[in-house]
Amino acid sequence: MIIETILTAFWLMLPAYFANSSAVIFGGGTPIDFGRNMPDGRRILGDGKTFKGLIGATCLGTAVGLVQIMGGTYISSIFSSISLSAYVFPQMIIVAAFVLAVGTLFGDMAASFLKRRINIERGAQFPVIDQLDFVAGAWLFAYVLAHDWFISNFSLPVMVAVIIITPLLHIATNILAYKLGLKDVPW
Ligand code: CTP
Ligand code: MG
Repeated sequence: MIIETILTAFWLMLPAYFANSSAVIFGGGTPIDFGRNMPDGRRILGDGKTFKGLIGATCLGTAVGLVQIMGGTYISSIFSSISLSAYVFPQMIIVAAFVLAVGTLFGDMAASFLKRRINIERGAQFPVIDQLDFVAGAWLFAYVLAHDWFISNFSLPVMVAVIIITPLLHIATNILAYKLGLKDVPW
């Protein structure tokens, strides 16, 4: 069922989604590149990548995974009672939550590195890459460091669902943040 594939995709990516969207809350202070430039004269990563953002977002993403591990059965049962179907969310494990969160932040840093090399200023948009950089990072880290979990959960349909729902979630949350007055522009 398509709904179940989407639910699975969403559930498996939750630590990454929380890590990706919370760096902005935790961020500030010392940049990860310590303000240094590359030989091209531009910053290695830029002021938008900070240690506080990296550590705070990694901790929150991992904590979300912990909630999924402890509450997964309960959340599944609530969901089943509402939807009257016996869907069960897949098993989260702590190693997976942690590597998804760390991978998210590294994917985001890799994109900033790339943006600086092609002379895109900190904060300037880089469509598609800005929305999916963290997915690539999260998957790469999970593939290497939580291999069995990744292989048994991320089937091709689930991965396709992630690639489709992630930019949609991004747009939806930005519009919501704009309506709530948290952002100046709705994108
Ligand atoms: N942030 C942080 N540390 C990180 C990632 C993000 O402190 N490792 C914070 C920064 O305050 C950043 C904000 O989250 O400005 C938004 O993140 P992002 O959009 O990834 O950064 P940008 O400022 O747009 O910079 P870039 O062009 O390098 O993506
Ligand atoms: Mg940005």
